[in-house]
Amino acid sequence: MEDTAWTALEQKCLSCRQCRLAERRTHVVFGVGPRDAEVLCIGEGPGEHEDLQGEPFVGRGGQLLDEMLEVIDLDRRRNVYIANIVKCRPPGNRDPLPDEQDACIGYLRAQVGLIRPKIILCLGRIAAMKIIRPDFRITREHGLWFERAGVHMMALYHPAAVLRDPGKRPETFVDLMKVRERIREICNHTY
Ligand code: URA
Repeated sequence: MEDTAWTALEQKCLSCRQCRLAERRTHVVFGVGPRDAEVLCIGEGPGEHEDLQGEPFVGRGGQLLDEMLEVIDLDRRRNVYIANIVKCRPPGNRDPLPDEQDACIGYLRAQVGLIRPKIILCLGRIAAMKIIRPDFRITREHGLWFERAGVHMMALYHPAAVLRDPGKRPETFVDLMKVRERIREICNHTY
């Protein structure tokens, strides 16, 4: 049953033409990871590498994300699902526009409904503003926990921001330690 729902959702998303981002895409970047993951990471949208390969976070930022997740025993092949607010690449890597986010967010909501994660990690300001609160301030509020409908949510700096500013690494490490702690408290798998 869930399999059918996933297949239907993915098919619908892969053929989506609900916004202008469909015009220039190479691939729709649906998401990657086990569909029963207890932790879900949400980025903002595919970049060039992701558009070419059809998988989220596969460029330099993606490599850093994998390293960050590895610190807390998370791995997209084993126990974390990774998706984006918009599934098609915004031109020139600009931020996805509000109408593009609105056109796409239903797919992410459906993914959340099927995965039913215990923890959602928003990567960067755009994801945090869409998922946690519209006036979210990433510099002040990264590393803080928010809870809605029993789901524990935190925003971390976007890996691309950490690459641009290595000064953000120590804070990101502290945030990751908080995530590890919360996983130990509320998740079932042994990580
Ligand atoms: N940045 C994102 O927010 N998502 C990706 O998939 C890649 C880069």
